[in-house]
Amino acid sequence: MSTMENKVAVVTGGGTGIGQAMCLQFANEGAHVVVVSNVADQAEAVASQVRAVGGSAISLTVDITDVEAVEAMAATVIEKFGKVDVLVTSAGVMGARTFLSQTSVEEWRQTIEVNLNGTFYCIKAFLPHMLERDAGRIITISSISGKQPAALNSDYAASKHGVIGLTKALALELGMLKKNGITANAICPGSVDTPMIEAITDQFQPASKMSREDFRQKAIASANIQKRLLDADEIASMATYLASDQARGITGQALNVCAGTVLF
Ligand SMILES: NC(=O)c1ccc[n+]([C@@H]2O[C@H](COP(=O)([O-])OP(=O)(O)OC[C@H]3O[C@@H](n4cnc5c(N)ncnc54)[C@H](O)[C@@H]3O)[C@@H](O)[C@H]2O)c1
Repeated sequence: MSTMENKVAVVTGGGTGIGQAMCLQFANEGAHVVVVSNVADQAEAVASQVRAVGGSAISLTVDITDVEAVEAMAATVIEKFGKVDVLVTSAGVMGARTFLSQTSVEEWRQTIEVNLNGTFYCIKAFLPHMLERDAGRIITISSISGKQPAALNSDYAASKHGVIGLTKALALELGMLKKNGITANAICPGSVDTPMIEAITDQFQPASKMSREDFRQKAIASANIQKRLLDADEIASMATYLASDQARGITGQALNVCAGTVLF
């Protein structure tokens, strides 16, 4: 049986990578999907991909750092569908990828603005509608870098630690408000084969003197127990589960899908 029949699911960062995989899985489970991206043609391409196989999807072009645009997005979703059941905040950037001493103030602010503040803006825009119905699933996308930082990644690590903190604090507040129909959880992916990992490979592989495939395997995939990159579908499966009724008792968690990169 489909687990998301007639649910309305909003996925930021839905135009590529992990967000795209979630849009496809959610639609396959019967959801009406709202594909959100700052890149219009990528969002529409994913919505078309969903519709091409008989699913239901619309695309919205939104920069999640633009608070007014985020509020307008929520208004559009409520006007069109009358409710929101699932919010996934997958939009994110990789950050400066350099020493903290060489990270500019602008780079720092941009990473925090997209990954942490953008997550907050999106939750803030949709939460009142979930509170009204005491129903919803908030699924933030942190990272194992939100638990175990890597060097040359301080802005990203700080933003992803922040995402876990805000998600857990929100879950506590939902409990205080007796809104047990709403859960808030973070997913912490390990290294997933998406455009973000391609960008890291583009930056660091040339100096490594390894072939591109060797670099992906020896410098990235070897960091986990299974010695492999994850597929975006594997992260989407966790989100699909968290979105389901069976997962109603899971809240305030930061769940690793990381092939054993971190063990806590
Ligand atoms: N790929 C990995 O190994 C990995 C690991 C851990 C966590 N993550 C996290 O997963 C999430 C998805 O990343 P991905 O791997 O799919 O990479 P990705 O680059 O394919 O996806 C990021 C998406 O966010 C969108 N985006 C960026 N800035 C935006 C903005 N201001 N407004 C709206 N959309 C914006 C991009 O257009 C893109 O579609 C990110 O939050 C990332 O930090 C990825």
